[in-house]
Formats: sequence, C-alpha cells, structure tokens
Amino acid sequence: MAKYILNSVDETIKLGELLGKSLTESVIIRMDGEMGTGKTHFTKGLALGLGVREEITSPTFSILNIYEGRNMKLFHIDAYRLKNIEEAIDAGLAEVFNDDGVVVLEWGDLLSPFFENKVIDIKINDLGDNSREMIIEGWNDDSFRN
Ligand SMILES: Nc1ncnc2c1ncn2[C@@H]1O[C@H](COP(=O)(O)OP(=O)(O)O)[C@@H](O)[C@H]1O
Ligand SMILES: [Mg+2]
Repeated sequence: MAKYILNSVDETIKLGELLGKSLTESVIIRMDGEMGTGKTHFTKGLALGLGVREEITSPTFSILNIYEGRNMKLFHIDAYRLKNIEEAIDAGLAEVFNDDGVVVLEWGDLLSPFFENKVIDIKINDLGDNSREMIIEGWNDDSFRN
C-alpha cells in the first residue's frame, strides 16, 4: 500500500503518467472516489504514460472509451450510469475485462464479477482545495516520493 498527497492537478497527472509508464501487463485499475476527486484527470496522466496520443475525455455518457497506447490498449470506463449487470453487458463491458490491455474503471463496484486480470486499487479522498489523498494498492513504486 502506498499513500500520496497530491496538491495540484499536475501532480495527479504526473503520478498517473508514472503508473502508466510502469505497466507491462494487462491490468484493471479500479478507481474509487467521489465525483470531482480526480479519477478522470489521473487517467489523463495514465494515458500519457501508456503513449496514448489522443486527448482523454470523460466516458460519462459513452460509458466506454478505447485508446491505442504505445504497446497496450487503454479501456476507460465510467460505470456511474449503469444500473445493473445487464446494462454493463449491453455496453460490451464483459469482453473488455477479458481483453488484453489496461482497464481504468470509475464507479465499478457492479462490475467486479467480470474481473480476470490483475487489479490495482486506487482510493482518492478530497482533502479540500486542490489537495487529494491517493491510496494505491497493488502497485509498488520506489521512484515517486512525496
Ligand atoms: N490535486 C488534484 N487532482 C485532481 N484534480 C484536481 C486536483 N485539484 C483540483 N482538481 C480538480 O478536481 C476536478 C477533478 O475532476 P475529474 O478528474 O473529472 O474527477 P472525477 O473523474 O473523479 O469525477 C477537476 O476540476 C480538477 O481541476
Ligand atoms: Mg470521471
């Protein structure tokens, strides 16, 4: 378990980028945190680290956005609007969890039954203003200290 204090959007993006650069195998990154804590901004950094050239936008309405990284695909899911497993299957999410690539999941409690790959758990807490506390489980990184 590692805990980070991120005092700006830039710091959140930098940490996401570092995580993205370190990924070499398929993984599910489960992000837990209230609306506006920075899940999508962290994913922007992660995409940079994976070598995605496109601009990341929130999949709030699309539910699933897919990007091509340097070596791996990035599946970015926002499951907030899904009401049940049937809707998740209709949105094509079951296949995503068996596919090769990095899955980032916002609001994914409903979807845990589909997980087959390794999971990294990230919990974000809003500390007020531009400060966020981020707790990451399943990823060990010694190069980032805060
Ligand atoms: N340290 C920080 N890290 C991430 N976002 C921050 C931070 N400080 C302020 N913010 C702001 O919080 C909001 C986070 O939005 P977003 O990434 O869409 O959150 P979520 O996807 O969790 O709903 C943005 O408006 C961003 O500018
Ligand atoms: Mg979001």
